[in-house]
Amino acid sequence: MHTAHKIMKVFVTRRIPQEGMKILSQSGVCKVSLWDSDEPVPREELLKGVAGAHGLLCLLSDKIDTEVLHAAGPNLKVISTLSVGFDHMAMDEIKKRGVRVGYTPDVLTDATAELTVALLLATARRLPEGVLEVKNGGWSTWKPLWLCGYGLLGSTVGVIGLGRIGMAIARRLKPFGVKRLLYSGRTAKSYASDVEGEYVPLDTLLSECDFVVVSCALTPETQGLCNKAFFSKMKNNAVFINTSRGAVVNQEDLYQALTTGQIACAGLDVTTPEPLPTDHPLLTLKNCVVLPHIGSATYSTRGIMAELSANNLLAGLQGTDMPSELKF
Ligand code: NDP
Ligand code: DGY
Repeated sequence: MHTAHKIMKVFVTRRIPQEGMKILSQSGVCKVSLWDSDEPVPREELLKGVAGAHGLLCLLSDKIDTEVLHAAGPNLKVISTLSVGFDHMAMDEIKKRGVRVGYTPDVLTDATAELTVALLLATARRLPEGVLEVKNGGWSTWKPLWLCGYGLLGSTVGVIGLGRIGMAIARRLKPFGVKRLLYSGRTAKSYASDVEGEYVPLDTLLSECDFVVVSCALTPETQGLCNKAFFSKMKNNAVFINTSRGAVVNQEDLYQALTTGQIACAGLDVTTPEPLPTDHPLLTLKNCVVLPHIGSATYSTRGIMAELSANNLLAGLQGTDMPSELKF
């Protein structure tokens, strides 16, 4: 027997890869209203679009707070974010309302770890500076001490937050000849033995590492973690890399550390705010490489993220098991 079901309303806050849109439009479960742009939905349009929705598919640039939840109203069953990070959502408020949350762990781990390695090498080996010198005529001849940087061979690498991505970074860095792999976080990880990872206090990691890579989640505890005191414990020839969230770093303190020689150089895929204003002091520094939050940006990864977020949304609407539900 065929049971009649009510078509549910879904708001999608941005153009997403067609793999995801196809799943939603062919599901027969929901009517999709889309903010049909590559640019973020303005706040008023978000509040309007979400009104009465049963499902919301959002991005990390959408702040999902009490106001949005209130605007959505009691129909809202599920929020599916096209990201593994969920620091843009007011989790306590979402929980209070019994709304389920889907996210995209694992499927972006390899792409993000790969980009982190690329950023680390680009920063430590001064690739952007070199490219610029080739173009602007600064390349006069081969010079023994010109554009020298730091290599991974024999180095000590520290990973702050040895989660899915942190571990994938560690696995990729080890074959470069890394001598010791240290990590810090809230708890020691049994899987760290695969990379001979040593669980150490943060201060030990900072004082002993040649490369410090941040891959933890942004939480109240990690917000501003990389501050003056943090950088002052690092070696003067150390390389700092952040591909987690911009707010983990105090950017004024990082600027000081980079300009005073407290640390050697920094590579950031994430900043505060995003985009970083083009006149930001960090962008004046040769020893700071800034990327526009492209950790997971491969065509296939973004397609799979869109598929997963669409399937999470549908499961949330239908009250079935989600492929990736955030348990909180
Ligand atoms: P996981 O949850 O697997 O890992 C997060 C890690 O953060 C955990 O190992 C956790 O360690 C650690 N952590 C939490 N609190 C602290 C703390 N106080 N101090 C140190 N470490 C802490 O997530 P993923 O690896 O999948 O993703 C990590 C983050 O990477 C995301 O939250 C997101 O912000 C960012 N990201 C950025 C991308 C980009 O494009 N640049 C792409 C994808 C993700 P413990 O278990 O010990 O608490
Ligand atoms: C995430 O998923 O949290 C990233 O920042 C973008 O892929």
